[in-house]
Amino acid sequence: MANTSEFSSKIGLIAATVGSAVGLGNVWRFPAETQAHGGAAFLLVYVICVLLFGIPVMLGEFAIGRAGKSDAIGSYKKLSPGKPWWISGFLGILCSYLILTFYMVVSGWTLEYLYQSITGQLFTSIPGVEEGSNLQFADRMEQYVAGIWPPMIWTWITIVICGAVLCMGVQKGIERVSNILMPLLFLILIILFVKAASLPKASEGLAYFFNPDFSKITPNVCISALGQAFFSLSLGMGTLITYGSYFRKDTNLTRTAFNVWLLDMMVAILVGMIIFPGVMSFGLEGESFDGSALVFVTFPEIFNNMWCPQLWSALFFILLSVAALTSSISIAEVSIAYFSEHYKMKRVPATCVVLLPLLLLSALSSLSNGILSDWTIFGYTIFGACDAVTANVLMPLGAFIMSIYLGWFAPKNLMKDQLTNGGTIRNNFAGTIIFLLKWVTPILILVIFITSLIM
Ligand code: PHE
Repeated sequence: MANTSEFSSKIGLIAATVGSAVGLGNVWRFPAETQAHGGAAFLLVYVICVLLFGIPVMLGEFAIGRAGKSDAIGSYKKLSPGKPWWISGFLGILCSYLILTFYMVVSGWTLEYLYQSITGQLFTSIPGVEEGSNLQFADRMEQYVAGIWPPMIWTWITIVICGAVLCMGVQKGIERVSNILMPLLFLILIILFVKAASLPKASEGLAYFFNPDFSKITPNVCISALGQAFFSLSLGMGTLITYGSYFRKDTNLTRTAFNVWLLDMMVAILVGMIIFPGVMSFGLEGESFDGSALVFVTFPEIFNNMWCPQLWSALFFILLSVAALTSSISIAEVSIAYFSEHYKMKRVPATCVVLLPLLLLSALSSLSNGILSDWTIFGYTIFGACDAVTANVLMPLGAFIMSIYLGWFAPKNLMKDQLTNGGTIRNNFAGTIIFLLKWVTPILILVIFITSLIM
């Protein structure tokens, strides 16, 4: 009988893994981080981080998953029984849960904005704000996220939709949904890109996005770029170990990692190439929003200046919802795989065990943007703390421990065997990847951490 905890085709495997990588991280988090950390200077450091750490760490996770053939904890236990390396998988599961608490909230905002785009409500005036003023969208967003019921209900709707897909399992749920939604996402992105390229000040926008000011590069920019690289590629928290365990014996890991990296990077850059021409063309460059609002304020403003705003806006929020859904699924799958493997639970109960407590936690996270905004941890709200601590601390830490494990303590030849499928395929990059994982990744992560703490 076919193993249904395995992706059934190459395309499905790529679609699901790209579906995990391409998410709110590319469309919502990336432009916000770019804006907050010096524009093109951030982009440059980000690209370096993705190349130096992204691909080796991704391959490391794939290798552990496919060799261990289990969840994030179980794979470590199988590969190094009796050793404490499984703690790295445990940290990953913890991290994935923290990410879900804010990721589901933003996914909920996306669904609400999609609904409002389709009904046209998004483009109507709101009380107290002059119609057509630039403030219209900023105020709408601020009022919306600070509200009690609407953002909470949309968050719950997102959790239920993800739960339904996850209950259907790896092939019938995750793979099938990704196969349909990912091509749709790329199609919409290309339509929006063509539209943005025809805007009056497109070239100025592009110059702004691509011209780095090197004086803006600080340790803080580096740690944020590192965090963004891990977040965007879904690294350091067991997602790709879990997906790696669904890969087949003959999957070429290096080619898969390269494709995922390329498509993920392309989406982030295309989003920048859509947003900045729009910002320039419609005179929005003087406005600075809180990062989390950028996409929800700037994009509707851009659309409002175009023919048939509702159409563009609906397309964009479909794109964002698709990106959010396929990534949320992959984040939740880390814990679901653990419960079904470790406690031999069926998919449906395992999905319920993981998602039910999330109804409460994500509600708290949502409320922390409004009535619970006084509940702070080191000055961060619950929502902000979960975002910062996962991307900037837990994910790099997870990748650090994993690279130490693979470089120094894993069974001999594990990486080499996985990169060459047991010697059956040639891999000219195997030596470089193993070297990067053993030396470059752990040392650089440590250096970036220490300098950002000192400075
Ligand atoms: N990579 C996803 C994004 O860019 C987020 C994610 C993080 C998914 C960690 C899985 C694991 O939105």
